[in-house]
Amino acid sequence: LDRKVHQNIHEANNFINYKKMSENLAIVRQRLNRPLTFAEKILYSHLDDPHGQEIERGVSYLKLRPDRVACQDATAQMALLQFMSAGMPSVANPTTVHCDHLIEAQVGGAKDLARAEEINKEVYDFLATSCAKYDIGFWKPGSGIIHQILLENYAFPGGLLIGTDSHTPNAGGLGMCAIGVGGADAVDVMANLPWELKAPKVIGVKLTGQLSGWTAPKDIILKVAGILTVKGGTGAIVEYHGPGTDTLSATGMGTICNMGAEIGATTSLFPFNDRMHDFLAATKRKDIGDFARAYAKDLREDEGAEYDQLIELNLSELEPHINGPFTPDLATPISKFSAATKANNWPEELKVGLIGSCTNSSYEDMSRAASIARDALNHGLKAKSLFTVTPGSEQVRATIERDGQLATLEEFGGLVLANACGPCIGQWDRKDVKKGEANSIISSYNRNFTGRNDANPATHAFVTSPDLVVAMTIAGSLHFNPLTDKLTGADGKEFLLQPPTGAGLPSKGYDPGANTYQAPPADRSAVSVAVSPTSDRLQLLEPFKPWNGKDADDIPILIKAQGKTTTDHISMAGPWLKYRGHLDNISNNMLIGAINEANGEANKVKNFTTGEWDAVPATARDYKKKGIPWVVIGDWNYGEGSSREHAALEPRHLGGLAIITRSFARIHETNLKKQGMLPLTFINPEDYDKIRPDDKVDLKCTELAVGKPFTMVVHPKNGEAFEVKLAHTYNAPQIEWFKNGSALNTMAKANKA
Ligand code: F3S
Repeated sequence: LDRKVHQNIHEANNFINYKKMSENLAIVRQRLNRPLTFAEKILYSHLDDPHGQEIERGVSYLKLRPDRVACQDATAQMALLQFMSAGMPSVANPTTVHCDHLIEAQVGGAKDLARAEEINKEVYDFLATSCAKYDIGFWKPGSGIIHQILLENYAFPGGLLIGTDSHTPNAGGLGMCAIGVGGADAVDVMANLPWELKAPKVIGVKLTGQLSGWTAPKDIILKVAGILTVKGGTGAIVEYHGPGTDTLSATGMGTICNMGAEIGATTSLFPFNDRMHDFLAATKRKDIGDFARAYAKDLREDEGAEYDQLIELNLSELEPHINGPFTPDLATPISKFSAATKANNWPEELKVGLIGSCTNSSYEDMSRAASIARDALNHGLKAKSLFTVTPGSEQVRATIERDGQLATLEEFGGLVLANACGPCIGQWDRKDVKKGEANSIISSYNRNFTGRNDANPATHAFVTSPDLVVAMTIAGSLHFNPLTDKLTGADGKEFLLQPPTGAGLPSKGYDPGANTYQAPPADRSAVSVAVSPTSDRLQLLEPFKPWNGKDADDIPILIKAQGKTTTDHISMAGPWLKYRGHLDNISNNMLIGAINEANGEANKVKNFTTGEWDAVPATARDYKKKGIPWVVIGDWNYGEGSSREHAALEPRHLGGLAIITRSFARIHETNLKKQGMLPLTFINPEDYDKIRPDDKVDLKCTELAVGKPFTMVVHPKNGEAFEVKLAHTYNAPQIEWFKNGSALNTMAKANKA
């Protein structure tokens, strides 16, 4: 039981610590004295303090020690820039970076990849050199999509991983608790701080029976999404269990966990089983599978484990489903889909079918898809709609090239795209319809919100299994049901498509394909990180200045934001994504979506020094230039939405001191603290109404102490000054973040000491 088993085949010094995990679990078991779910076992075995940690599902905040961190290229930029400013020589926990989001699908795999390498050269160079410098595994563009690479290389049963991408839960297919986070959380773990997570509730999904015919693993999550809806999993881990789990392949289970993100779940999980062992063995990790067998009791739920909610699904009765358009929880069984199309007036012609992505691009998926395509070809038919194929990894691409599925899909009419996100994240130079033209597309992806794939709000995007994508593509119509409807072959004879078949794993083993991994060099002292000072996409971060030790008197309100102020209002996405690695440039979007109470308009505030109305970022820059700190007044649940750390970095960069609201979204509040901003709330929420946008305020920063209220004096433009009491949630170590200017400064200081 006390073996030294590597976490993966790439890293010589990182091992799986089942013994320690089991010991931690024994401590918690003694304390809780009740049967545990598998999700709980993984989390509690990774507690920073198993003896002292308070544990109540849905209530306590767990301090955890993840085994690994993974970042994709869009989110890795700011995470690495921040990590660099902590001044540590290397990451404290195993980390990888994956280049997959920045490759646009235009004409096909190799050419698109070459184009992306040229356009994004400075970003890739920065990521490659900073990974080499700080001991991070780097997966080059073309290697594949982060979640497939993780499943094929890094996921292991019972492990805890955080990843800066919402579909990180894909690794649940190998029994890993894999959670999507923001960049600031990734930086904490890279720098060896414990990571905080509100103890999730656990939703059990009990699977019985067995899939057959046209029903695929994807249909399980399509059905569950229909039951739970896009909000139903919030704050919970979805834990599959029951005899049906043993009938699914590891990659199929990965698909189900991946799309759990669409119901807002923290993550999804399957218990360790023989199918996972098979996949580990096929991907050169049989030793991990054997080790997991030795700890199998810890790697599944206890008998009698209690779930906060329980759903039961009989796989033998499950129908294939198609979800959408515009939302992933609108689930329609195939038998009712034609009628739904008619009733809702969805465009009947199917313009494009797309298979692959991080959700559905395994060897099994591609083999089943190819079997349907071959059946059509045998009857002289090809894809009627446009058809694209996105392999999830170079390994899968090379293997299906060797084994013939790729040639079949191409013969069928498929355009093979780069091993990357492509159309799934809107990196799609779509030419077949004009913007604004109503049309239907169907994919094996996970997300189908308005405009996600092609930025056309009139595109009706549906998600389903790769099997149904291929079948519907042959007919070119939303009315086609391959289970009941016949097609007419080239010989004029009618025929019914055969249900898909395909091996779960390649019988000849995987072909790794081109070598796309860059291991960090043993001697990293000479590596220098490539950031051009003239770049408009990347900028090294200057540490923020420490607090000056004084109260801030008579400072302006930059904006009094009215109503909903989400992270999208604070730091918009869309075209601004390009500047994710350049704090000064991206700060030009700061709060441009927030509504100013003074005029009911967005991005128009009065500069009190000039009396002019100007854009929010421009006004903040002017104050900063003049050495005037400022505050923002906000409404309820300020900063809800995503964990985007830019929403906290930008106000800090442009000279903000405090954000004062009726309440905060918790992650944003923590992010503000981490960047050295003061998040404060009105003790009496009505005080929000007493403040006018052109008032000035005194902030008594010297009063900041754990559990004590904080005084603000408001100076109305005309009228008597009055006092307002503010609350905060700082604990003692967090107060040091404020004093030192940021959490990273605090870490850097500790590292120097
Ligand atoms: Fe990429 Fe789409 Fe997955 S964007 S990581 S392929 S959800």
